[in-house]
Amino acid sequence: MEVLRTRDELRQALDRSPRPVGLVPTMGWLHAGHRSLIARARSETATVVVTIFVNPRQFDDPSDLDRYPRSEAHDVAICAAEGADLIWAPPVTEVYPPGFDTTVAVGAIASPLEGAARPGHFDGVATVVAVLFGLIRAERAYFGCKDFQQLRVIDRMARDLAIGTEVVGCPTVREPDGLAMSSRNVHLSAGERAAAPVLHRALVAGRDAWAAGERDADRLRRIVAEMLAAEPLAEPEYVSCADARTLVELEVVDRPALLSLAVRFGPTRLIDNELLDGSEG
Ligand code: PAJ
Repeated sequence: MEVLRTRDELRQALDRSPRPVGLVPTMGWLHAGHRSLIARARSETATVVVTIFVNPRQFDDPSDLDRYPRSEAHDVAICAAEGADLIWAPPVTEVYPPGFDTTVAVGAIASPLEGAARPGHFDGVATVVAVLFGLIRAERAYFGCKDFQQLRVIDRMARDLAIGTEVVGCPTVREPDGLAMSSRNVHLSAGERAAAPVLHRALVAGRDAWAAGERDADRLRRIVAEMLAAEPLAEPEYVSCADARTLVELEVVDRPALLSLAVRFGPTRLIDNELLDGSEG
């Protein structure tokens, strides 16, 4: 496995690598969620490229960027254990060289939920992923359903710009107590960590009500919100029950829906979701 820094090194390594190429974009501090994406790429493609880049453009909150956890040695070991072939861990100037002056802005799918809560966030995500797609020209790129809206934004961008990389969504990997794996979990205090599984419990309560026949979206949102309200450390930012295709809020759940939420525990912001579409979540 090679760890590459520059665009040129990456291009040269790709030139001598077999196709198809599978890309797993990350911001590092790799955990079992990232591992599952690398393993999926490994099982489907001949060359697996993992990128590790904490993308300044997608952080709407400078303190969130400053305290984003980093450990390249740990990340490299995980990539090696999962059988990745190439790691691209560039400095900021290799991704955004002097003169870089383009922003990729995806439309309606990027505006509600995380787009509304974090202005500019998805422009930053779409822009960096467009650069990665352009440089790596992978046949497939793997993203987690934990960041469901991000997956949909990137899929929209790749189709609209005829990039030729297939965007593959992968299931959310969870801790045994249901908490979705996230690089940000490391910031939780012991008390917050103990409280955080309420996110998944609340979503499952909503999903169970839906499975039992509840189709009133407001009632489903309320079931989730009430469970969150019972946890004093959890400060909910939003609870959404939206059309899974458009992410527009629903009144009646008469089509596949996404139940999703963003919750703060002190300074740490966590997101999670469950699909209400008849598949096992
Ligand atoms: P990051 O948060 O490092 O996540 C990288 C990928 O891992 C994303 O596709 C994310 O959805 C996936 N992932 C995170 N937690 C997961 C979990 N518990 N189970 C399954 N997959 C999980 O998302 C980003 O980085 C960035 O926005 C990026 C796409 C790299 C652009 O900078």
